[in-house]
Amino acid sequence: MQIGVIHEDTPGEMRVALTPNEVHSLTDDGHEVIVEHGAGRRAGHPDSEYRDAGARTAPRADALAADLVLQVHLSGSGHRVEDWQEAQELKLLRPGTVLIGLANPLSHPEPVRRIAEQGVTAFSLDLLPRITRAQSMDVLSSQSSIAGYRAALIAAGQVNKMLPMMTTAAGSLPPARVLVLGAGVAGLQAIATARRLGAVVHAYDIRAAAREQVESVGGIFVDLPLDTSTAEGAGGYAQAQGEDFYARQREVLGNEVAAADIVIATAQVPGKPAPLLVTEDMVRAMRPGSVIVDAAAAQGGNCAVSVPDQTIEHSGVTITAPTNLPAGAAAHASRLYARNIANFTRHLIGSDGPQLTSDDPIIQDTLLTREGHVVHPQLRALLDLDPAGVSVGAPHPVASERG
Ligand code: NAI
Repeated sequence: MQIGVIHEDTPGEMRVALTPNEVHSLTDDGHEVIVEHGAGRRAGHPDSEYRDAGARTAPRADALAADLVLQVHLSGSGHRVEDWQEAQELKLLRPGTVLIGLANPLSHPEPVRRIAEQGVTAFSLDLLPRITRAQSMDVLSSQSSIAGYRAALIAAGQVNKMLPMMTTAAGSLPPARVLVLGAGVAGLQAIATARRLGAVVHAYDIRAAAREQVESVGGIFVDLPLDTSTAEGAGGYAQAQGEDFYARQREVLGNEVAAADIVIATAQVPGKPAPLLVTEDMVRAMRPGSVIVDAAAAQGGNCAVSVPDQTIEHSGVTITAPTNLPAGAAAHASRLYARNIANFTRHLIGSDGPQLTSDDPIIQDTLLTREGHVVHPQLRALLDLDPAGVSVGAPHPVASERG
């Protein structure tokens, strides 16, 4: 099959979907890889490396004419909802082309409707089931881990203290105190990184299972008097709680936030806005010179005053809200992403071409559109499409399915 890779157009995106080492793995399987000129440059890979690895570098239209096109952001879906725009490349894609990338579709379904209208088949890797068999394709984990690492480093660079304890001739300095909110993949990596830098790290997550994981990377789990019996839902993800729960959570978190030199907030609930955990009053109660890194900013943020992709000061506290932390380590982020997407691609293609009708959950859960239809049940509901309305075959019926 022909596999195309294009330059990412999303503002601030530095990653590329496929790196030269993964080109090898696909060409060895007999596929032809066509990479748009300059696609990997910002991730540290000039065109010559792709050619050395066996790919053809070519204009964008050639890469888009491939049978499969690999992307970081699926056409039209940026890393935050406000980035959505009609992707120019969509018009160049032939019906039947397979797109693989990230769409964040449960928070941002509209671009998927447009992709379906084009007759393109699309897979979103952020819907991959968190099952053992899919771990080598788990893009969310590989990128979240980088996000957590980068969040800790950004915080360390902005706070008005050093992180480790120091004993000097002029006296001893206590270690900085870090609070991590949300201990999923990103939160755990933030804890581990802050610990490596010498900070004392406290962490909280509403999932009870997170305690052991926090402690395993050297964090101190914060006990809060909250009823979290319904906190964990399907697939180990957090479930959204009622506003009363969040109000109580903010109340009992107050002292922890005020005592922290650094707050790294990573709390998210799939398909929902990020929970509000740090109010303006809580920011005001922090010591001047303290720092908040709101790593949930792309989903609306955990801090009331954070502004996406900006660093602001509020009553002496520095608040940074990056929406695309992995792009800041584009070389390594791309390398891991490329390994994940190459593994998924191989799994999808198998030995007989794309298995679009397979009942394998890895395929079914990630398949968004096929033959002109949005086929993912949750997305159909979000887009007000008839739940029973998928009748494969008509050329571009999505427009007529609009609710
Ligand atoms: P995520 O990015 O969706 O959310 C981040 C964290 O925020 C989660 O741990 C969540 O519990 C927490 N959170 C949500 N609301 C909160 C609140 N009000 N206060 C404090 N914390 C809150 O999560 P991520 O990193 O994608 O992990 C989700 C789950 O998937 C976890 O259980 C993780 O262990 C599991 N996982 C499983 C893998 C596998 O292959 N089996 C691989 C990676 C993750």
